[in-house]
Amino acid sequence: MYKNNIFEGNSSYSSIYKPILANNFENQGESSDLCSMMFTPEHLTRFNGLATPFFYYDLSLLQKTIEAAAKQASRHGFHIHYALKANANREILQPIVAAGFGADCVSGNEVLRALETGFAPEKIVFAGVGKSDKEIKTALEKDIFCFNVESVEELQVIEGLAAQIGKTATVALRVNPLVEAHTHQYITTGTAENKFGIPPRDFDTLLQLLPALSHIRVIGLHTHIGSQICNMDNFKNTCLKFNEIRRWFEQHDLHFTDLNIGGGLGVDYQHPDDNPIPDFQNYFDTINRYLERTPQQQVHFELGRSIVAQCGSLITRVLYTKQGENKRFAIVDAGMTELIRPALYQAYHKIQALKAPQVAALIYDVVGPICESSDFFGKDVALPMLQRGDLLAIRTAGAYGEVMSSNYNLREKAPAIYMPAL
Ligand SMILES: Cc1ncc(COP(=O)(O)O)c(C=O)c1O
Repeated sequence: MYKNNIFEGNSSYSSIYKPILANNFENQGESSDLCSMMFTPEHLTRFNGLATPFFYYDLSLLQKTIEAAAKQASRHGFHIHYALKANANREILQPIVAAGFGADCVSGNEVLRALETGFAPEKIVFAGVGKSDKEIKTALEKDIFCFNVESVEELQVIEGLAAQIGKTATVALRVNPLVEAHTHQYITTGTAENKFGIPPRDFDTLLQLLPALSHIRVIGLHTHIGSQICNMDNFKNTCLKFNEIRRWFEQHDLHFTDLNIGGGLGVDYQHPDDNPIPDFQNYFDTINRYLERTPQQQVHFELGRSIVAQCGSLITRVLYTKQGENKRFAIVDAGMTELIRPALYQAYHKIQALKAPQVAALIYDVVGPICESSDFFGKDVALPMLQRGDLLAIRTAGAYGEVMSSNYNLREKAPAIYMPAL
């Protein structure tokens, strides 16, 4: 009756386990190897002496990325505002400031961080769907370049606060273009379902209201459809819709000196060593081709991920390995508290063992220590056989990694190291 029962006969618990050999690397990216561009023996010596987890930032790659973005943007006279939300570490901001980029901030504290690290006030844009009165006042007092305004009500609130302190707010209207970004639903920002931007239904009200707002000066039109966008057709479609909206406003006598257009260019999470620097040329060329504008109109971009994602890795140690009923686990000392993207967006990050490759790889779920089943970095990842103490690098963690980290489970914040040393 119980013929197939695993407890029958002489089978021990362990005899039922089949080693799960990696004969199929689909969805894995390549098997780990030590000879990536990112990690040299010098890195490993340094890492081995450090407590984990920590964030590692490759400042040479950051510099090269900044230079590539700056070069391609300058071919068209475009202005880049770095989105601090992606990573606001002072050490990361310094080379970005030095390159002459502006800043894109989404909180009063980001505005203050941008100013403190040397971004010129006249290059700071303040975006965000829910700016508080305190944050608006801070930005007004600091004479920033522009508020990206996301609703009619926000415009009225800014008018009131600017009047109170005797300032005029320069403003770009962030319009919702109702364009699908074909990215993860949580990082899509420009569809009818999203909270972002002024919906087309409010455009008439806006036009009626504007003449009465004497402390508001509208200089710009802004739109953003989301993040991690790799297909240039999405940018083309955004431009076409944006052109239409701009023309409509102009026909109604509202003209703009500044155009601010997004989404954000995506990065290659699968192959960080093959594509460490995103294709800024294609991105800016696409916008240049499809965005209608006069020679006088200035064009602005808010780039975060494409500038900083690839230069950062989360370095973690294997605490335990465990063969579960169906899965082999590598339990590491970093968790969703350090990098929440896999839990939040089902995001893929390449996981690389910082040890010599072995002939046979094993398949692991790489998980953290947090008391949540969503606390994982990768499922069914092919890695060399791991043991306690082995180091792993979770790649492409420079954007939306450290900034989103938390103290959940009363964990301490992971430190950051920078190479070459500052
Ligand atoms: C309005 C706005 N600006 C800038 C960014 C930064 O985008 P990314 O990090 O993809 O470059 C985002 C991200 O969603 C955004 O919504």
